[in-house]
Amino acid sequence: MQQVKAVVARGKGRPVEVTTINVPDPGPGEAVVAIQACGVCHTDLHYREGGINDEFPFLLGHEAAGVVESVGEGVTGVAPGDFVVLNWRAVCGECRACKRGELQYCFNTHNATQRMTLAEGDDAGTELSPALGIGAFAEKTLVAAGQCTKVDPSARPAAVGLLGCGVMAGIGAAINTGAVTRGKSVAVIGCGGVGVAAVAGSALAGASPIIAIDIDAQKLEAAKKLGATHTIDSSAEDVVARVKEICAATYEGAEGADVVIEAVGRPETWEQAFYARDLAGTVVLVGVPTPDMKVPELPLIDVFGRGGALKSSWYGDCLPTRDFPMLVDLYQQGRLDLDAFVTEEIGIDDVEAAFEKMHHAPEGQSVLRSVVVF
Ligand SMILES: NC(=O)c1ccc[n+]([C@@H]2O[C@H](COP(=O)([O-])OP(=O)(O)OC[C@H]3O[C@@H](n4cnc5c(N)ncnc54)[C@H](O)[C@@H]3O)[C@@H](O)[C@H]2O)c1
Ligand SMILES: [Zn+2]
Ligand SMILES: [Zn+2]
Repeated sequence: MQQVKAVVARGKGRPVEVTTINVPDPGPGEAVVAIQACGVCHTDLHYREGGINDEFPFLLGHEAAGVVESVGEGVTGVAPGDFVVLNWRAVCGECRACKRGELQYCFNTHNATQRMTLAEGDDAGTELSPALGIGAFAEKTLVAAGQCTKVDPSARPAAVGLLGCGVMAGIGAAINTGAVTRGKSVAVIGCGGVGVAAVAGSALAGASPIIAIDIDAQKLEAAKKLGATHTIDSSAEDVVARVKEICAATYEGAEGADVVIEAVGRPETWEQAFYARDLAGTVVLVGVPTPDMKVPELPLIDVFGRGGALKSSWYGDCLPTRDFPMLVDLYQQGRLDLDAFVTEEIGIDDVEAAFEKMHHAPEGQSVLRSVVVF
């Protein structure tokens, strides 16, 4: 066991704290990873706000890259010294989804068996719940060995670590879940790290037009740099009407986009996605709603009459072993600008300030990703 500094959320809505935690030595099937970089995802904030579940205290952080420090008994896939991106889809190989060959839907993904614990304060010894089974706002963390995906060690940790969640979720929402290809039109509602990644994924797949939609003009600028051909400021414009107009200008008769990706996680933006979609098109919900939210009341005839598919995307339906090395390779070739997602590198003490910036960025300082570097 060793003690390291880490960011912990002790209770609903309470500011996060940097404290000391105990990291056990890896047991069978586990690995301890020295974290080099970890992005701040909106899902970390959902955890802090109690929007995921009540299993406080949480060890936050889950978009990380680092170096394997030690491995437990029986681990053969990774070894000390390997540079890895951590994933939250270490597939089990045994569940029904795995057995029918759909590993991306694995119902029983692996996490470490042992628990990390608080090392100081009145509640020392309390077991921590690592966000998405990772917990990487920490100098070191304990994970299942299958959560470590080896990638090119010459890649920049702050950039490729983002593949561990938000950027993979966005790219995969477009390419895997939405099946975006050349010849398809795409609209993305919400252009934070996840939405802009969906834009970048659509560009990689050759889609056009690619319409980025947000209420924050700076996010739209970022989306343009990563491949958006058009932008809509939804605080001022009618999203559905504009998407239809833009798509019809390219494809005569189009009544919307072939694929609309919702990357906010709210009923009203999902409803926009529903109506901004062309007949037989696909809506992909990648934004995470809170438990109190409901599907908007829609005429069932509209669901039937528009055809197509209403899908959700968990982690971009990715397979880390297939997708991470491929995307790192595209990054290294200069075909996927992961650096553009890293707005700022911050210290472990700055996570609370990074949460604050998600909602109230000072004028001119809007953030795609703040990345904690160690
Ligand atoms: N499905 C998954 O596997 C997965 C993985 C990672 C994150 N997420 C979720 O994706 C969502 C986005 O994450 P993020 O890290 O990019 O968050 P973020 O806070 O960086 O981005 C959200 C964006 O939505 C914009 N927005 C807010 N309200 C809007 C509205 N009414 N219309 C248009 N745009 C609006 C904001 O301006 C911001 O740019 C979150 O809900 C997060 O939990 C899902
Ligand atoms: Zn499985
Ligand atoms: Zn995330």
